[in-house]
Amino acid sequence: MTSPMPTSLPANSGENSAGEARDLRKWLALIESRGELLTIDAEVDPEEELTAITFMATQRRGCQALLFRNLKGDASGSRILINMLGASKERYGLAVGLDPGLSTREMITATRQVLKRRIAPTMVGSDQAPVSEVVLTEGKIDLTRFPVPRFWPGDGGKYFGTGSIVLTRNPETGVLNAGVYRLQLHAANMLGFSLVPGRHGLRNCEAWWSRGHPAEVVVALGIDPALFIAATQSFDYGESELDIAGGFLGAPVQLTRAKYLDLPIPAQAEFVIEGLVHKDRLEPEGPLGEWHGFYSSPSGRKPVIDVKAIHHRRSPILTAALMANYPSCEIGAYHAIARSSRICDNLESMGIPGITGAYAHPGAANAYGLVVIALKQLYPGHASQVLALAAQCPASAYCTKWIIAVDDDVDPTDIDEVMWAMTTRANPSDDIDVLRNTWTNRNDQSLAPDARPYGSKALINACMPHKYISVSPPRTFLRKSTYDRVVERWAEFALPDRPPVLNNFHKE
Ligand SMILES: Cc1cc2nc3c(=O)[nH]c(=O)nc-3n(C[C@H](O)[C@H](O)[C@H](O)COP(=O)(O)O)c2cc1C
Repeated sequence: MTSPMPTSLPANSGENSAGEARDLRKWLALIESRGELLTIDAEVDPEEELTAITFMATQRRGCQALLFRNLKGDASGSRILINMLGASKERYGLAVGLDPGLSTREMITATRQVLKRRIAPTMVGSDQAPVSEVVLTEGKIDLTRFPVPRFWPGDGGKYFGTGSIVLTRNPETGVLNAGVYRLQLHAANMLGFSLVPGRHGLRNCEAWWSRGHPAEVVVALGIDPALFIAATQSFDYGESELDIAGGFLGAPVQLTRAKYLDLPIPAQAEFVIEGLVHKDRLEPEGPLGEWHGFYSSPSGRKPVIDVKAIHHRRSPILTAALMANYPSCEIGAYHAIARSSRICDNLESMGIPGITGAYAHPGAANAYGLVVIALKQLYPGHASQVLALAAQCPASAYCTKWIIAVDDDVDPTDIDEVMWAMTTRANPSDDIDVLRNTWTNRNDQSLAPDARPYGSKALINACMPHKYISVSPPRTFLRKSTYDRVVERWAEFALPDRPPVLNNFHKE
């Protein structure tokens, strides 16, 4: 079902005028035309060397997406795309149909609008599905033929899936879920499957197991980045990320029939794996160097995917996601923007008024660790209410440790302004509360091992004390008319750059 597109938003290029769907290759051509893609033809070892080059290159924030075309030991003709989105808000904009020149704050607002659109996927025949150029079943399946990264020296193995999505179906409602869950290469036809408790993908698997069936799963690599982004965010269990990706693209995601499963597969993907996950079949998995900058907990026994069929394009582009500290992590700018939009949506849907912005800062463990909420204080206790709800709403509950409320004259995306508010408007002995026994990850190194994964959250009220707002001195702002005059005369002063954009002015 298609909901009307807000007129203020540009249409994305999800389909061209001939009705052809956008795919990863078309998006790569778009970002290449803007200098956002770097192709590397020198031979590179997918074991650790791929990480070293990516990690070192991405220390520079404007680093392009990297397409490696010559992978040591590869006889399959595959390529690896890494840092597809990374710390780039520009490439995020180009993925979801937003002007890449928007500021982060503007992108969060615009993302909220795009996220209101839903477009259901469509089915196409296998003759229109590039992913089915090559189909391999039974004795022909061999995932070890492809270049598979081993990211960090202490990893427990190679990881076939990191820049990939996994589709599962809710057996009761039929809703298709897409999530991103890491997949370790165990054998030619077996992948390890690692899901955090609470993930919808795990809920779907458990629902099949409780009915006495193995869970069907589809893994897709080299998908359109809009679908990847949708799969990384938390939406209601009843919602399908495929409809959300359609909204991002402004056109339906195209699916086609699988070879072995009842589930459909993304027709435009570069590489698809069909498999079954059996309830009690567990294998040691991990560790993997993760987004928090540590290795995940030493090898637990986790479910596996028993691979039943593979589909791929010729010379497939395999997407890989490096997990590292920001700005080298694939969970970067898009995650910060999309998560922030979802937090605003969650607060709005609970009926909380006065929210003027939110930002999950990417430097804080890739947007998982710290959220700033800006609000216009409308009643006593408003800031405390916002802090408690923002800390526990679905979009931010997992892992966030620091939740900071600031007034509406503070830009939540500007860490300098946030620190100003914390140092001038918060009184630590009165303005910090702590929530205990909250949802965090089982690798949280700040907790004693037997306390994990129950973490805590600090709520920091860096708003003007509500009781004294009427008697607090005004802030030092420029007069708007003077600002406008200086902007007009800027060239006369031979100052470098363009005049800054200011949002707050002296009240006349
Ligand atoms: C690159 C990347 C890797 C991720 N790896 C995992 C993982 O291994 N296990 C997991 O549970 N979540 C992982 N996540 C987070 C989930 O994809 C994310 O929370 C998503 O919203 C889950 O969707 P679901 O709630 O529909 O299951 C990863 C996210 C990204 C971007």
